[in-house]
Amino acid sequence: MRLLVCGGAGFIGSTFVRQRLLEHGDTVIVLDKLTYAGREENFHDVASDERFRFVRGAIEDPDAVASTLDGGIDAIVNFAAETHVDRSIAEPDAFVRTHALGTYVLLEAARERELRYVQVSTDEVYGSIDVGTFTEDSALRPSSPYSATKTGADLLVQSYFHTYGLRATIVRGSNNYGPYQYPEKLIPLMVLNALHGDALPVYGDGMQVRNWIHCTDFAHAIGHVLAHGDPGEVYNAGGPDEQANIDVVRRIVTLTGASEDQIEHVSDRPGHDRRYSLSSDKVCALGWTPRVRFEDGLAETVAWYRDNAWWWEPIRSGEYRAYYERQYGRALS
Ligand SMILES: NC(=O)c1ccc[n+]([C@@H]2O[C@H](COP(=O)([O-])OP(=O)(O)OC[C@H]3O[C@@H](n4cnc5c(N)ncnc54)[C@H](O)[C@@H]3O)[C@@H](O)[C@H]2O)c1
Repeated sequence: MRLLVCGGAGFIGSTFVRQRLLEHGDTVIVLDKLTYAGREENFHDVASDERFRFVRGAIEDPDAVASTLDGGIDAIVNFAAETHVDRSIAEPDAFVRTHALGTYVLLEAARERELRYVQVSTDEVYGSIDVGTFTEDSALRPSSPYSATKTGADLLVQSYFHTYGLRATIVRGSNNYGPYQYPEKLIPLMVLNALHGDALPVYGDGMQVRNWIHCTDFAHAIGHVLAHGDPGEVYNAGGPDEQANIDVVRRIVTLTGASEDQIEHVSDRPGHDRRYSLSSDKVCALGWTPRVRFEDGLAETVAWYRDNAWWWEPIRSGEYRAYYERQYGRALS
């Protein structure tokens, strides 16, 4: 298959690219703007593959998108997004541009060329759930500028199926973790701070529950929907385990040999969703199943960050330091 993977230089996108090249023998073009979260380093092990090509460009730029499609592409898979809820609260404009305008430009390109289209989305479109679990038919109740603009993109994708017959599917994932995740997100933030002896800033009481999925499982779910999903359908892909944030942090303390004294409760994020939970029955019925249990995946993830300082050192010594100081009111060591 020949794929255009938008946002493929990020955490989950690069995991998906690696799987498509190494496990499926696909031809892959990545279109990525390389925001602070996108990095060519994420392709270090596949960049020399002759079936791989990287193009730096924005999905909201129709010329950049067209330039990647001219050689013949079977499907567009769109990961491109601004993904950090805290940044969406401080600066929502990029979220609107990428999720609304960018998705529209990609949909138009797919419609003109009659390509298949997969939109990568999130459980956050459903909002928070105290008990029970969300299905694909649950109401959409996003609560942050991140999740609201992701919801808007999902609705636009569905409109292109209903109005133009575009062969589009949507895959909504739960909280991902694993190698190559930018350290502003909970797990790499805590792992790197723990390894450096820095404070471990936990929002509020830390009892926010997340349904953790390893990035390789989520990427496989997306590939599975690409191969077997029905056009116009939405598929949830959640991980096998739910964990409160504070329990995740305690596990990281144990795995890194840090001290629980490093845990510091800080003011909660405004509008912070309490619990996410996804039913994945529909995608499991297509033959997908998550393979990595959280306990094992977290231990492997901690080991990866410990062993791959080449990957995170440039981040931790760059712009991220200023972001961290703004966000948590203290400097990194
Ligand atoms: N990380 C999670 O827990 C999670 C869970 C469910 C769904 N998702 C979804 O998965 C997708 C990927 O998430 P991630 O965690 O890998 O994110 P990420 O922040 O690591 O990567 C996003 C990538 O998109 C690129 N990008 C941003 N704006 C762009 C634009 N306008 N044009 C082209 N490229 C652009 C960035 O440079 C980066 O490479 C997103 O759509 C996100 O909503 C993420």
